[in-house]
Amino acid sequence: MSSEEIASGIPIDIDLEALSLLVEFKQLWDEAEEIWNANQDEPSFHGYVSADYRAVYESLNVLQGHAKTFLEWGSGLGVVSIMASRMGFNAYGIEAEGELVEYSRVLARAYQSNAQFAVGNLIPDTFAWDASRDDEVSRTLTDPVSGYEELNLNLKDFDLVYAYPWPEERPLYENMMKGFGRPGSLFLSYDAKRGIDLVRIQPR
Ligand SMILES: C[S@@+](CC[C@H](N)C(=O)[O-])C[C@H]1O[C@@H](n2cnc3c(N)ncnc32)[C@H](O)[C@@H]1O
Repeated sequence: MSSEEIASGIPIDIDLEALSLLVEFKQLWDEAEEIWNANQDEPSFHGYVSADYRAVYESLNVLQGHAKTFLEWGSGLGVVSIMASRMGFNAYGIEAEGELVEYSRVLARAYQSNAQFAVGNLIPDTFAWDASRDDEVSRTLTDPVSGYEELNLNLKDFDLVYAYPWPEERPLYENMMKGFGRPGSLFLSYDAKRGIDLVRIQPR
């Protein structure tokens, strides 16, 4: 039955596929919130705060067709990577906390996602810190081993990188993209103050 027939002759055009995906995503967001509610006092959850998933979903929707490979820096419970994979991106997540990665893999299976997750550091191994360039770090963990090796990929392999950094750490994240991302790739970020931000990485 077409959407027009469903609407009994009223000429509206609904993308039923996108709508059913959104219904599934809503369940995923609720399930992630339940996991957070049950575990928020666990040490591995202390650095985890969820983004506004609806806002990130809308951004990915706009970026479909403009990027294929997707990396979530600090993937937490994996929700954004799972959405990205279901929307057609080749999606990966790097997360320092192994327990969160375990939850991500369980959620990925439950939501028919082939997103892949690695436990490790999002900061490229050879990144050189430079305080004069606003490379401030407050909540990002600096000690885990690289997450890129487990994925057998490096930052230049990604068309689109997404992160939810602490607001004062955003310049650091953009500097990492400028130094190690592929020129022309996209950096999508979210934070509670600025909302969604998107920059294209220019050649140096
Ligand atoms: C603010 S949460 C964002 C979660 C998720 N990306 C989202 O948008 O909902 C940041 C995540 O980054 C992880 N993290 C912090 N430092 C990291 C590092 N150096 N490498 C990988 N993950 C890191 C934290 O454990 C946490 O899960």
